[in-house]
Amino acid sequence: MKPPKAHAIGSRKDYRAFIGGVDRYDFMGALQFNVLTTLGLRAHHRLLDIGCGSLRVGRLLMMYLNPSCYYGIEPEKWLIDEAIEHECGRDLVKLKQPTFSYDSNFECGKFGVRFDYFLAQSVFSHATQHQINLCFMEVSKSISSNGYFVFTYVKGDTDWVGSHWAYPKCVPYTESFMKNVSEQNGLYLFEIEPPVPSGQTWSIATPIANKNSIAYLESSTLQDINNRLVYYRQRLNMLENTGFIRFYLAVKTYATKIKMKIKGQA
Ligand SMILES: C[S@@+](CC[C@H](N)C(=O)[O-])C[C@H]1O[C@@H](n2cnc3c(N)ncnc32)[C@H](O)[C@@H]1O
Repeated sequence: MKPPKAHAIGSRKDYRAFIGGVDRYDFMGALQFNVLTTLGLRAHHRLLDIGCGSLRVGRLLMMYLNPSCYYGIEPEKWLIDEAIEHECGRDLVKLKQPTFSYDSNFECGKFGVRFDYFLAQSVFSHATQHQINLCFMEVSKSISSNGYFVFTYVKGDTDWVGSHWAYPKCVPYTESFMKNVSEQNGLYLFEIEPPVPSGQTWSIATPIANKNSIAYLESSTLQDINNRLVYYRQRLNMLENTGFIRFYLAVKTYATKIKMKIKGQA
């Protein structure tokens, strides 16, 4: 029997298809969960999932976090309703007491909470410059002093100038645009590598005074370069010790010495 035909991305007929490829609903949820827990998310932290959609990661986060620690903003209320109905069930919601808001102005302050983590996965890939600015401004007002804002965007050579939310197409922004918006809102931005590529650039932003807490991410890049250097040095040593190369190097050294001698005599 053939599997039922999947609805196209962005389709209002399917809460999974609306937010992305149906075949990636599981993977994209797991990836977000992995990135967040790798970056230090623990059960007692408070997290706000901006544009939480049909709870692709929300269902995993609700299970993981303590009661009343998962928050979501999503203008398309039906996505959350369907996800509760078909993905997590009302019992989990009763047990974990998530809080949802259905506004489209990124109003993070309305919860009256200082968040340890914010997540905006595949939100800036559809947002206008004004919306991105607004979102950063809102996040900066509600982020705890050692909090993290984890987000993705589609990195390009130009900044999209459209004036409306673009959906389901993706729109590009430059790294410098993201850095500027971040800095203007008192946040330090650093690009991170997800465990597997997702098609978007992942970044983390934190209050500038907390910048040192993510220094280990930067030094791990240095560590990576250092490891490669050690590896290539070892390969070079191996090559230099093969018979043919040793003979060539000996001849080269001898020839250089003779050249120097002749030069000295001239
Ligand atoms: C590509 S989906 C990503 C969903 C979710 N973050 C994920 O990765 O599973 C983008 C989501 O952003 C939501 N969205 C649209 N406008 C928004 C706004 N102004 N504020 C917050 N979310 C918005 C959409 O309804 C949609 O659910």
